[in-house]
Amino acid sequence: MIINPPRIKYPKTYPKDTLSGQKIDGIAVANSVKERVRVAAKVLREEGVTPCLATILVGENPASMTYVSNKQKACTEVGIETKDHKLPESFSQQEMNLLIDLLNKDDTIHGILVQLPLPKQLDEFSTTSRISPIKDVDGLTPYSVGLLSSGRAILKPCTPSGIMELFDFYKIDLSGKNVVIINRSHLVGKPLYHLMLEKNATVTTCHSKTRNLKQHCLAADIIVTAIGDRSRFTLTADMVPDGAIVIDVGTSRENGKIVGDVDYENVIKKAAFATPVLGGVGPMTIAMLLKNTVTAASISKGFVSSR
Ligand SMILES: NC(=O)c1ccc[n+]([C@@H]2O[C@H](COP(=O)([O-])OP(=O)(O)OC[C@H]3O[C@@H](n4cnc5c(N)ncnc54)[C@H](OP(=O)(O)O)[C@@H]3O)[C@@H](O)[C@H]2O)c1
Repeated sequence: MIINPPRIKYPKTYPKDTLSGQKIDGIAVANSVKERVRVAAKVLREEGVTPCLATILVGENPASMTYVSNKQKACTEVGIETKDHKLPESFSQQEMNLLIDLLNKDDTIHGILVQLPLPKQLDEFSTTSRISPIKDVDGLTPYSVGLLSSGRAILKPCTPSGIMELFDFYKIDLSGKNVVIINRSHLVGKPLYHLMLEKNATVTTCHSKTRNLKQHCLAADIIVTAIGDRSRFTLTADMVPDGAIVIDVGTSRENGKIVGDVDYENVIKKAAFATPVLGGVGPMTIAMLLKNTVTAASISKGFVSSR
């Protein structure tokens, strides 16, 4: 049985933005993914399976609370149920282990999401590693990471796979392209490296100890930046070659406004494509979580994934 609906044939041309480069519209692409998820969730329901995501939030970090509530809302919109676990700041590792073990055993739960960061007494690696690989909708367990580096992952980390979906939508062929990723975290840079390598890109990973970052950027066809601190780094137009593709993952606050790593207004004048913040990578992260949840629901029932 095919549970993921066939891939949408994305249109070949898009209206140009008023500026010289083209804005990559993450909201439009996320909506197309959500539409596919909605259909998959409906098919699953018809087969007697109600896809369900369990969310775990420890403490009252306002940003984390907003992220979790946005994810839950998005689930509801596409027909995925959610089970909310809001836990006190003092929640212990032992209690966390017990909760994850219970959710792993619960057949009505198909995906488990632990909102990061966690309070100090909880170890992020051991917490996420405890999640059953078939419910690992964030793609962070060692098993998922191993599959990803072997090019065989089905549940892939949401932000990197969302970026790959953007390339797919805009028909950006990665083969032979020089890519610079400015980030080496488990969440963004490392998984994205593997996904882009699989598509035959030549990938350079940069980080805080990289020398001559500007020179790396100026040699790139595609630049992905995910730093999230404008006081440490801003990708300015002089660092971007003409016609490059710029993906901005970074999010931080500046004078109460959410901003990315990129000086978008100036960079878009030189780039072929660029993502804005907001409405770029962010919506894709949520859309790919929904996709992973219906995929996990399908896997749990032994259905065969079409991708
Ligand atoms: N929009 C979304 O959906 C989404 C999803 C995930 C993350 N994000 C955002 O993406 C950003 C990164 O997230 P993360 O979890 O990967 O954070 P992280 O673990 O703190 O990673 C930040 C990376 O930036 C590098 N870096 C810091 N300063 C640098 C500099 N001056 N030059 C070059 N590299 C530098 C760090 O290098 P070192 O490794 O050497 O320290 C690290 O690899 C954050 O703003 C986060 O909010 C957005």
